[in-house]
Amino acid sequence: MTVESVRPAAPEASEPNEPPLAGGAVPMLGHGWKLVRDPLAFMARLRDHGDVVRLKLGPKTVYAVTTPELTGALALSNDYIIAGPLWESLEGLLGHQGVATANGSLHRRQRRTVQPAFRLDAIPAYGPVMEEEAHALTERWRPGETLDCTSESFRVAVRVAARCLLHGEYMDERAERLCTALATVFRGMYRRMVVPLGPLYRLPLPANREFNRALADLHLLVDEIIAERRASGQKPDDLLTALLEAEDENGDPIGEQEIHDQVVAILTPGSETVASTIMWLLQILATHPEQAARVRAEVESVTGGRPVGFEDVRRLTHTNNLVVETMRLRPAVWILTRRAVTETTLGAYRIPAGADIVYSPYAIQRDARSYPDHLAFDPDRWLPDRAKDVPKYAMSPFGVGNRKCPSDHFSMAQLTLITAAVSAKYRFEQVGGSNDATRVGITLRPNRLLVRPVRW
Ligand code: HEM
Repeated sequence: MTVESVRPAAPEASEPNEPPLAGGAVPMLGHGWKLVRDPLAFMARLRDHGDVVRLKLGPKTVYAVTTPELTGALALSNDYIIAGPLWESLEGLLGHQGVATANGSLHRRQRRTVQPAFRLDAIPAYGPVMEEEAHALTERWRPGETLDCTSESFRVAVRVAARCLLHGEYMDERAERLCTALATVFRGMYRRMVVPLGPLYRLPLPANREFNRALADLHLLVDEIIAERRASGQKPDDLLTALLEAEDENGDPIGEQEIHDQVVAILTPGSETVASTIMWLLQILATHPEQAARVRAEVESVTGGRPVGFEDVRRLTHTNNLVVETMRLRPAVWILTRRAVTETTLGAYRIPAGADIVYSPYAIQRDARSYPDHLAFDPDRWLPDRAKDVPKYAMSPFGVGNRKCPSDHFSMAQLTLITAAVSAKYRFEQVGGSNDATRVGITLRPNRLLVRPVRW
């Protein structure tokens, strides 16, 4: 499949011009069918046709930004807000008043409330829970048994986020319910985003009923967590306390709906992204035994054989580089969208007010123009003297600018610790029936990864 482009006539020297239209559009559906059929390959080829290109999705024009430099410019500019098809579909899940979907002054106020929980100096306080969860994972496993990596990864991701950020051991049983609800909800949201059939999703079909049940359970769980914290009268120094005590611009307590939406907006992006990344890390360890052995050797040299701890993370440089390289080639967040609030420019191109813009961290991070041997899995490319050659914004799995993921340090600490803990104890083999091909949803993850842990 190729993406031919129809380039416009040569522009006036200084006048911003209309981006070229990507070729291959078909009547009615435009490029939509290509996006549905093979979205990753489609996004990865767009740069061949321009730094910014126009796409037709049905009757709608969407702009795709394809270079690291311009994605950085887009994310850092105040001319764009969070909106567009991805966010509209997520609003049904995340609510309208949470930090992930709000804009403007509401967003700035909410970021101020959540940010302290994720600051670099706040992370060590989560160390004991991260450590406990990483080791509990390896203790659950028996050598030779088959592990369903989807449920194992979801489980640990939800437990770490819920226990660290919302505190309380009551999370133990609820984490299981959260996992089930979130998995179903994310599947349904993606379907609703790429195949927007509107009213058909309201029909009482089994899949719709399952989706509605899971969504209702998710909201119920969040209400339970909030009610229980209030009833306890306790105010531990955590994100939930910060949300419950937050005030609006006038110094009044924020409303119940906003508290609820904020908890959902933090738990949901947090668990799906981390879970997908853990699945990819297990896939890498299973398919690159030499890398698994290097991680194990590094952990041993740092710990001298004792159980790896949170305070070891900063010395596990190769393990950290392996996590980064995994996120480069298999980023959980593969597509992001924005909307122009005013007529503006990106590079040499004119972007009209109201335009929806998409870009793909997946495409940017696999681009041969940014990375030598771009498809090779090579954690050493993150050694300082090589990493300095990576173009700015060519590796931004947590985003850039005022919408950057607040959880970058939190997530990296957790992912490095889990990778170290599982690799110290086991190597992994894929088993029959495992399917590690990429499954495209709201995040990218392996279709159904099944592995067997084997003692070293
Ligand atoms: C591997 C792990 C993760 C990845 C790759 C990731 C990635 C991202 C990306 C790319 C964005 C920016 C979206 C944009 O620019 O439009 C984002 C935003 C966000 N992430 Fe993460 N994330 C991860 C983990 C987490 C965790 C663990 C949490 C919370 C517990 C979290 C909470 C959020 C929130 C609340 C936002 C919205 C921020 C805002 O709009 O101000 N993320 N994440």
